[in-house]
Amino acid sequence: MDFTLNGQDSSVTDGERLSLLDLLRDRIGLNGPKYGCGLGQCGACTVLVDGAPARACVMRAARVKGRSVTTLEGLADPVTGDLHPVQQGFIDGQGAQCGYCLNGMIMTAVALLDRNPDPSDDQIRQALRDNLCRCGTHQDIVASVRQAAA
Ligand code: FES
Repeated sequence: MDFTLNGQDSSVTDGERLSLLDLLRDRIGLNGPKYGCGLGQCGACTVLVDGAPARACVMRAARVKGRSVTTLEGLADPVTGDLHPVQQGFIDGQGAQCGYCLNGMIMTAVALLDRNPDPSDDQIRQALRDNLCRCGTHQDIVASVRQAAA
């Protein structure tokens, strides 16, 4: 199966029947996307498929054949290594406690800012409403996305 992964041509054999999350983590070794609920409900496993957030735990890997997948590892500038503005926003905004949800928060926020570079706080909350944070860090997460958008 051929697809684009973090901007590079990628080819895997016998991976189509895996979940996309298992393919990325266990076969390819990208551990940015996290296993949380495994049911498509928490958002910890979020990746971008053709630029849109997708729950990798409930998506068959075969569905990304010929498509473009971006993981947390693909956000930084490949030449300079500079972090993506959303990653930097979460550092500057201290938008983490335990950090487990951050992959999903960041990937979803990247998709939001690609669609809407200057969202309101309500629009940020709406975009992240299905990404769960058990620490209750939502205020700092919204502030971090706001910082990235500034
Ligand atoms: Fe995929 Fe929770 S691990 S949504």
